[in-house]
Amino acid sequence: MENKTEYVVLFPFMAQGHFIPFLALAQILDRNRYTVVFVNTPLNIKNLRKSFPPSSSSIKFAEIPFDTSDHGLQHENTDSLPYNLIPRFVEATPSLKLPFRNLLSDLIDIHGGEKPICVISDFFFGWATDVAHAFGVFHLIFSCTGGFGMACYYSMWMNLPHRFCDGDEFLLPDFPEAGRIHVTQVTPAMSMAGENDPLTIFLQKNFVSWTNSDGLLLNTVEELDKLGLMYFRRKLGFPVWAIGPLLLSEEDRSKTGRQSTINSKQCIQWLDKKDPKSVLYISFGSQNTIPAPQMMKLAKALNSSSRNFIWVIRPPLGFDINSEFVEEEWLPEGFLQNIHEQDKGLVISKWAPQVEILAHKSVAAFISHCGWNSVLETVKYGVPVIGWPIGADQLYNAKFLVEQAKVCVELGRGVDFEVTQEEIVVKIELVMGENGEGIRRKACEIKEMIRDAIRDEENFRGSSVKAVEEIFIAALLRKEKIIAETK
Ligand code: UDX
Repeated sequence: MENKTEYVVLFPFMAQGHFIPFLALAQILDRNRYTVVFVNTPLNIKNLRKSFPPSSSSIKFAEIPFDTSDHGLQHENTDSLPYNLIPRFVEATPSLKLPFRNLLSDLIDIHGGEKPICVISDFFFGWATDVAHAFGVFHLIFSCTGGFGMACYYSMWMNLPHRFCDGDEFLLPDFPEAGRIHVTQVTPAMSMAGENDPLTIFLQKNFVSWTNSDGLLLNTVEELDKLGLMYFRRKLGFPVWAIGPLLLSEEDRSKTGRQSTINSKQCIQWLDKKDPKSVLYISFGSQNTIPAPQMMKLAKALNSSSRNFIWVIRPPLGFDINSEFVEEEWLPEGFLQNIHEQDKGLVISKWAPQVEILAHKSVAAFISHCGWNSVLETVKYGVPVIGWPIGADQLYNAKFLVEQAKVCVELGRGVDFEVTQEEIVVKIELVMGENGEGIRRKACEIKEMIRDAIRDEENFRGSSVKAVEEIFIAALLRKEKIIAETK
């Protein structure tokens, strides 16, 4: 596809976990010779512009204003936003509709009347469908979350089945194939859902507006995520494409605003000294952390386990995750010194080079909150998971990993569960010990599956490669049709 004159507008939600796959998508489009206009709010664009200067990248950035003061916030992204305020931040985003309309109009003017071939907006920005269509532009929703997890999340919010459930478990009325959902898989936000709840109103309206779009892109792999893809194909009645895994290289990720707080060379050198498949990696994503009592139990479990580990540590729930870590308060006495003396663990404050860690041959398992980027990264490198989902789609991603992909044991759910240090050690051994053979084998099989999906060779084109091609054939056909109709 040699077509650098066509341009595509990308508009992600303002969070690290959304920037990463959108930037990876931008790189794919760039390689396919489309010009990419990456839209976001001024502060985020300022950071991204610094990191992707015009000299090194052909991605163009465009700013739109975002006023969150009506919602009592002063943030432009979720980086420093307490977890409980994220819903309010999400609810403020429809105010971007008018500025986005103005921006699209300006872009078309700047391009001499030429419209973008496609607008791809975040799954939270269903309203962008109407904006794109008002200009006669093809529109796609991009879900940076996988098929199964997103399908459960969508169905839960649209149907609120937990409100009609007396027992501990229930089925999703339009997605019974997902199996039973346990009440512990209902997030606190979902348990407050109802007609007058602002988040319910926002999400239901958002999901309804998806149906006007021209298609849905999911950051997943066709062969891996069949059930979730089947749900959306059945539900939405328009094309649904699996184009993942969309992941950024470590170098590009460090440009998205978060830098590792450890020199990644040091981290790799530490891993190099360890035996193959001997290290447990622990991280709760870009914006999550666990409560102080659970943190203490986890530290004690790591102390008593014989396994090496790397732990990305942040202040516990209720504290600013970007503030200093107070060892004396949140870890057992002498914990850091002990593990340092035994050379058993590496504790990284705040931000680690996660992809390099997961790609390293010494890493055997991942205690993860099951954010979808982390899931894709871990399955890409064949590393099985000990699931510790905290909220949102993470609970359903963990369900997917346990029941569908079969590469995970679940340790706990949400922030309120009770766990003992012994239970943590048992779960670690279920994956890293002798009995984990099956899970580890399955993780290796999925690694191959993913490798195939993104293979682009003369004699073999993976499913994700073909899907990206199909999208732009569809977009071009639509554009040609509209031009023909207006002649
Ligand atoms: C958010 C939501 O929490 C999640 O439910 C949804 O699926 C995606 O958006 P987040 O919590 O940020 O995701 O987790 P995740 O999706 O795993 O993304 C985190 C990204 O940051 C990953 O790419 C991970 O590699 C990176 N990361 C995180 C680091 O590079 N270093 C770290 O120390 C922590």
